[in-house]
Amino acid sequence: MADLNWVEQAWNDIVHKVERTSARIGATFPHASQKGQYDSPPPDFWTAGFWPGLLWLIYKDTNNEKLKQFATECEIKLDDVLNDFYELDHDSGFMWSLTAVANYKLTKNPDSRRRALIAASHLAGRFNLKGKYIRAWNDRDDHFRDNIGWAIIDCLMNLPLLYWASEETKDPRFAFIAQEHANTVVKEFIRPDGSSHHIVCFDPHTGERLEAKGGQGFAPESAWSRGNSWALHGLTLSYLYTQDELYLQAAKRVAHFFIANLPDDHVPYWDFRLPTIEGAPRDSSAGAIAASGLIELARCVEPLEAPLYHDAAVRILKSLYENYGAWNKEEEGLLLHGTSHFPRGSNVDVPLIYGDYFFVEAISKLRGETELFW
Ligand code: GLY
Repeated sequence: MADLNWVEQAWNDIVHKVERTSARIGATFPHASQKGQYDSPPPDFWTAGFWPGLLWLIYKDTNNEKLKQFATECEIKLDDVLNDFYELDHDSGFMWSLTAVANYKLTKNPDSRRRALIAASHLAGRFNLKGKYIRAWNDRDDHFRDNIGWAIIDCLMNLPLLYWASEETKDPRFAFIAQEHANTVVKEFIRPDGSSHHIVCFDPHTGERLEAKGGQGFAPESAWSRGNSWALHGLTLSYLYTQDELYLQAAKRVAHFFIANLPDDHVPYWDFRLPTIEGAPRDSSAGAIAASGLIELARCVEPLEAPLYHDAAVRILKSLYENYGAWNKEEEGLLLHGTSHFPRGSNVDVPLIYGDYFFVEAISKLRGETELFW
């Protein structure tokens, strides 16, 4: 059990801060904070679910109706994305697990169920039968040309929407697709040492594996820390839904790599394999995503093994709270020092909404929360 003093203090700081910042942010879709204020990208950006998801987490504890109202408004605004005014990609899970599924789990709203099932159908439709992967992105800008055969590690976090859809409809097809994708990830992304690729490219016609790409990491053979945290957390969630030992063993392998490569303050640099860490930015979001996944992983393993994962999570979260938290600052983000896309130089060393979301999720778990929106 974690030392409750700092956990309760962290939760109080989170609740007070979000009750304050939500008055300005309202029902919008923040991604990165610049000069103390969150931006507001359009609702089709992959991060659209994190702010409403965070509001639902706090609503669950506080019953603050204003937060529920903002979260619900965000979900309704996402209907324009769901109804095809925008081009959907693989990130439907990130977007609708934390909005529609969360709402449905908490309120049984039938509209939320319908939205989440439509999103799951879109996601299932991106599955490539030959390569057994869910296609990443669409080729709508220069970064993503000729990407029909690309799959990415982040997509593991989209699979819970498919598992949930199967449980909800009693139709196993969604879960079959999720498991085939997860199997491909274990085989093609996770290296023997437990580190992970970001992007693996397949021939979309034959399914043959072609190459790995560096993507948001430093290089094809490096270990982008957020990608590794998606792997740790996502494989654990696949295990939770399927009880397939393959995912548990892979999640452990990734966790061991992640924990063993953390620096002294337990919060990773943006890539675990940089030529030098001098001047390199951290990615606090990778720490938060991994910590929440480690708490979940600790719940999946034998009692003797659990402290390895749980205590690592507590170390990361305590450091995030004490060294990276923006509690008494003129700053809307909760966690400082996140890195979104270092190779493109975009949103480096800033608060990021997914860092905030997973920090809040992880602290809520340390306080005893066991129900997941995923
Ligand atoms: N899913 C994209 C990222 O982690 O930045």
